[in-house]
Amino acid sequence: MEGIRIVATGSALPEKILTNDEMSRIVETTDEWIQTRTGIRSRHVCEKESCVSLAVEAAGKAIKSSGINPDEIGAVIVATSTPDYAFPSVACLVQKELGLSEELMAFDLSAACTGFLYALGVGRGLLHSLAKPYVLLIGCEQLSAIIDYTDRGSCILFGDGAGAVIIASSDRRFYQKSWARGNAEYLNCVGIGRGTAKISMKGNDVFRFAVNAMKQGIDEVLSDTGLSMDDIDWCICHQANQRIISNVQKQFPGQEEKFFLNIENLGNTSAASIPLVLDELNRTGRLQKGMKLLCVGFGAGLTWSGALVEL
Ligand SMILES: CC(C)(COP(=O)(O)OP(=O)(O)OC[C@H]1O[C@@H](n2cnc3c(N)ncnc32)[C@H](O)[C@@H]1OP(=O)(O)O)[C@@H](O)C(=O)NCCC(=O)NCCS
Repeated sequence: MEGIRIVATGSALPEKILTNDEMSRIVETTDEWIQTRTGIRSRHVCEKESCVSLAVEAAGKAIKSSGINPDEIGAVIVATSTPDYAFPSVACLVQKELGLSEELMAFDLSAACTGFLYALGVGRGLLHSLAKPYVLLIGCEQLSAIIDYTDRGSCILFGDGAGAVIIASSDRRFYQKSWARGNAEYLNCVGIGRGTAKISMKGNDVFRFAVNAMKQGIDEVLSDTGLSMDDIDWCICHQANQRIISNVQKQFPGQEEKFFLNIENLGNTSAASIPLVLDELNRTGRLQKGMKLLCVGFGAGLTWSGALVEL
């Protein structure tokens, strides 16, 4: 498949940090339980911020660091499950707040935690048909707005944040495979006008699905591209639970350090998790031309996806 180039990245996190100890004052839990079962110590939650303000901040940083002419952005795609409004989309409000040209397509995409990888596939496809050379992809979530803070089995997992990536076409290698299997039992949040919109989750079922989805995403991308984990520089997994990632790591002994982890201080930020990792790697000089990234994610839907991105 024709490739993409990561032109720039950006991210934004709410100021407020909610620690496990603070969480233990909201529900019956402990720092030790949360760390052992999930690897999470704290997460950021919106007080003054919103999904839109986080998206605007992350995208603004990406545009600034890219040095591109923002008028050359042909599409803004926002992966989110927690938009400020059902409509207008977060993407349209990003266009407004950043003063982007009206000559673009702006829309939100709903695929829960797999949202950013689905957006990557859609954005890559659009690059070949748009008149402009850049697509702005954003993954952003204000999950704290839909967390059920009486459910200790789920409220401890999630955090808020946003990551943005500007992509352009390239002749480098790109491959993606995605899946969907309708299921509202394991993980859901009802839509607007249909009751109280809060996350409802069967943790054990999601855990089992996640382990298999991650394995399938990695195995099939590697086998379809004829690569092995030896060829991969970074394996960027959706940060849902450290134990899910550890489970995958075990299948690749000696290569554990390729699996980047930042869940400890962010929690599961759903569609924002993969672009937040990309931005952290980029800002710290750990993404270099020629590197091969294997990105894999899963989430409600059920949805899952794996992608090979050669930088
Ligand atoms: C949610 C999750 C951490 C729960 O961990 P677990 O090891 O499966 O725990 P269980 O649900 O089996 O619960 C074990 C016990 O801990 C209790 N428990 C649940 N949450 C707790 C908490 N926050 N603090 C203390 N105890 C808790 C349960 O009530 C249960 O007690 P019991 O044995 O007396 O009934 C885990 O299932 C998970 O991460 N699943 C995937 C979720 C996910 O990734 N969702 C997003 C997908 S994108």
